[in-house]
Amino acid sequence: MKDDIERVLFDEPAIRTGLRKLAAELIRIYRGRELTVVPILNGSCVFASDLIRLLPIPLTLEFLACESYGDGTVSSGEVKLKFFPEPVTLEGRNILLVDDILDTGRTLKTVSGIIREAGAADVRTCVFLDKVERRAVDLEADFRCFEVEDVFVVGYGLDYAGRYRNLPYIGSLRSEVYSDAHDHAGTDGDPERS
Ligand code: XMP
Repeated sequence: MKDDIERVLFDEPAIRTGLRKLAAELIRIYRGRELTVVPILNGSCVFASDLIRLLPIPLTLEFLACESYGDGTVSSGEVKLKFFPEPVTLEGRNILLVDDILDTGRTLKTVSGIIREAGAADVRTCVFLDKVERRAVDLEADFRCFEVEDVFVVGYGLDYAGRYRNLPYIGSLRSEVYSDAHDHAGTDGDPERS
């Protein structure tokens, strides 16, 4: 698995430092307020579980899952919910929506809209990585750990074809692995996202 990584962009010490900084910001904002953290599966599982353990404030946890990419490697541009919390767990709550990476912004824009419609009192977004250059819709994360350049990254929850989520760091894939994805992706060129 390690052999497929071209470059480590954020190693474990950098991730720990980034998380502590982000947690301090969240504690400042949410101290004294009831919080519901909603990680978007599968990619944010590692980030969310590390982050909540740095938040010594009362919170509840609800998960949702969605897919923004169709059956292949080319974006459908459409975000589909795979499962969603019971609305009663969101109504009147301060929601912190957590995702692994903010890319075009379609996922967070769609999901935050749905959560607002479900009756949440406040909805904010928190991402581990922010690929600013790729934004296609008008959405900025309220909180983020790191800005990242426009390369396909894996590790720390992020996958390529379901693999690499368990790497403890963020790395870019070697071109040999990535070029398969280009072959399959036609003009889009992005590996499958989930
Ligand atoms: P949007 O475009 O809706 O996409 O902001 C967010 C989702 O796309 C996936 N994504 C990636 N996954 N490496 C990955 O493993 C990447 O470089 C990457 N860029 C986007 C991710 O699942 C995210 O939730």
